[in-house]
Amino acid sequence: MEFRVTEGAAASFATEVLVVPVVQGDAPSGVAAEVDGAAGGHLAEAMGRKEFRGKKGDLLYVSGPAGVSARRVLYAGVGDADKLTPEALRRAAGGIGRALVRSRYREAAIAPLRLDAAFGPVDAGPGAGAWVEGISLGTYRFDAYKTQEEDREPTVLAAVTLLLPPGADMDAARKGIATSEALVEGMRLAIDLTNHPSDVVTPSRLAEEAGRIAQEFGMRVEVLDADRMREMGMGGMLGVAQGSAEPPRFIVLEHNGAEGAPVVLVGKSITFDTGGISIKPAAGMEEMKGDMAGGAAVLGTLLACGRLRVPLHVVGILPAAENMPSGTAQNPGDVLKTMSGLTVEVINTDAEGRLVLADGLAYGNTLGPRAMLDIATLTGACIVALGNLAVGMMGNDDALKKTLTEVGDETGERVWELPLWDEYHESIKSDVADIKNTGGRAGGTITAGCFLQRFAGDTPWVHLDIASTAWTDKPGDYLPKGGTGVGVRLMTGLLMRLAAG
Ligand code: BES
Ligand code: MN
Ligand code: ZN
Repeated sequence: MEFRVTEGAAASFATEVLVVPVVQGDAPSGVAAEVDGAAGGHLAEAMGRKEFRGKKGDLLYVSGPAGVSARRVLYAGVGDADKLTPEALRRAAGGIGRALVRSRYREAAIAPLRLDAAFGPVDAGPGAGAWVEGISLGTYRFDAYKTQEEDREPTVLAAVTLLLPPGADMDAARKGIATSEALVEGMRLAIDLTNHPSDVVTPSRLAEEAGRIAQEFGMRVEVLDADRMREMGMGGMLGVAQGSAEPPRFIVLEHNGAEGAPVVLVGKSITFDTGGISIKPAAGMEEMKGDMAGGAAVLGTLLACGRLRVPLHVVGILPAAENMPSGTAQNPGDVLKTMSGLTVEVINTDAEGRLVLADGLAYGNTLGPRAMLDIATLTGACIVALGNLAVGMMGNDDALKKTLTEVGDETGERVWELPLWDEYHESIKSDVADIKNTGGRAGGTITAGCFLQRFAGDTPWVHLDIASTAWTDKPGDYLPKGGTGVGVRLMTGLLMRLAAG
């Protein structure tokens, strides 16, 4: 799908369908009033009868109206003007995109919506980007395994033109479009990888995907196999992987957008989490094919960084393994020696994410990073704490947490902080090793964060628990059911800010 911008009056733009956003109210205003005036007043009439209120999801089609150059006009409600944040616009755009696809239009134009919402005119950078993200993601489908014709109707919508009012900042709009196109590309990759089953997305497949990105953008990629992991002392990786026939991979992907100390992103990449010997219940276990969503988000972020040529040194790390029970699997009570030298008593083999992340963070620290982030579907407790609306955030660096909070609000990938007080560290003390891999039920998200903090050391570091947000059972306004690609917009946004200084 191609997005373009053009400056000009909506009524005189020739297109298959002219989408006119309408804010909630009793009568059309702004550009909606203008177009409706030229196109016969159907909207004013429908709003007068309260048949159409401008709520998100409200649609009114007018075919072949005289007075406008478009073949049809689609009036589309976008909700309350006061609440029209970029996220609200993305949500409205998701439904509008699906409506366009359902009607099999090949091409569409969106009339400008000039409003001074909190983020500035909706048509400037973030506004244009919101349309791109909403429409692209709203019309995304995962049909790789559908064989029946009716289930895999191709999307024919090929081009969307954003019409901007005269005097609008065209450069800002173009930039907003390009940024969001890169973000969407990264998200689609992350979502696809999360949705594919575990026999397809194996650790080796993740390594191939990293190789593909490296190839396309001239990045450096390094993939360590189990022998190399043994040489490096990665006991966490090996302990988790040893029960599976699927060989583990430790993947390092480096974007050299600038000189200097790197920002390191570590993404949990458990390609399937059965729980291991501490096996999970059967119900819902299929969702654990998505336990590599953190790693997928890191790949998606590096893809976006490559596409946007973000001038920053970024290293993505994917500790990838499958967590299986078998005769060779690790047992509860086993003690692992991790790459950092710290020993870990494995109380529960289902707390495997932190074991592979321990080695990911230790490796990251050997690169002398200026900052380190890890992102992981780490704890069920995070879902209990935050529901599906927020990413759990913990860390040792206030500036980094503050920036992530801001970027989260802008992108709709909102974060919420949990504390890492010293007292919480008490619960991961072990009788036999330096630490143990579970701290009990109470504060499960936090004690997992405490565990990771031991491996981050003094490096400015933030941990993002995306167990709550990486997967959704019901489709959102623009996010499909299944994998959500969460983290791509958040991390890319952070990197862009760091690059801007
Ligand atoms: N991958 C899971 C966490 C998870 C659960 C993600 C549900 C998404 C949805 C993780 O490896 C896990 O099993 N965590 C355990 C930790 C416990 C054993 C300390 C959990 O949350 O129950
Ligand atoms: Mn687990
Ligand atoms: Zn897991």
